[in-house]
Amino acid sequence: MTDADIAKYNAAQAALEYVKDGMVVGLGTGSTAAHFVRLLGERVRQGLRVKGVPTSEATRNLAEQVGVPLVDISQINAIDIDVDGADEIDAAFRLIKGGGGALLREKIVAAASARMIVIADESKWVETLGAFPLPIEVTRFGFALTRERVRSALRQTGCAGDEVNLRVSGKANEPVITDGGNYILDAHAGRIPDAEALDAALKQVAGVVEHGLFIGLAHVVVLGKAKGAEVRSR
Ligand code: 5RP
Repeated sequence: MTDADIAKYNAAQAALEYVKDGMVVGLGTGSTAAHFVRLLGERVRQGLRVKGVPTSEATRNLAEQVGVPLVDISQINAIDIDVDGADEIDAAFRLIKGGGGALLREKIVAAASARMIVIADESKWVETLGAFPLPIEVTRFGFALTRERVRSALRQTGCAGDEVNLRVSGKANEPVITDGGNYILDAHAGRIPDAEALDAALKQVAGVVEHGLFIGLAHVVVLGKAKGAEVRSR
């Protein structure tokens, strides 16, 4: 494992202590959340009873492989805790998420959870959000027009940059399609001086399905280090 991966693993392991018998647990997406899902699978084999709500098809597949029982989100009214990674975290526990393209389901699950535990290596802790490109899920229909309106929102809310790229992958540079069947725009804001204002502005843009700014959702941040993890609570 690389140093970053060890730190991610340590964060995931420390988060296990928040999981109690009988809980419904939101299962995040990404490499840090994947460590958590594997560790949770080990606990299930030792007798822990939980039901997981995956935030992506990738996480669903992993949870099935490692034996974490799942429940369909349409069958539940609430989630006890959600354990998920992040691309950036600031001192007010505002997050940028969606590097793995799962931000829509991740936000639905986080918003339905009594507590959101964010697990990350310590490099994700930042003074100001925005160096990591902000992922924005948009409808395929009219995405070029939507992109222009997103650029205006970045400028109007004082962001340092307004470059917005359609996320593509593979040799053929095909647009990435999310689990919800949409596109992802990556907004290179550089620096987001007012995350609440950008959140409000993006919500006004027709064609934006959801964006990766998570404000007021995280309760606990577990920052993994080379040895152990540091827990910060709001
Ligand atoms: C996926 C996410 C991830 O949680 C985020 O990208 C962090 O990923 P990693 O744990 O691999 O660093 O938001 O949509």
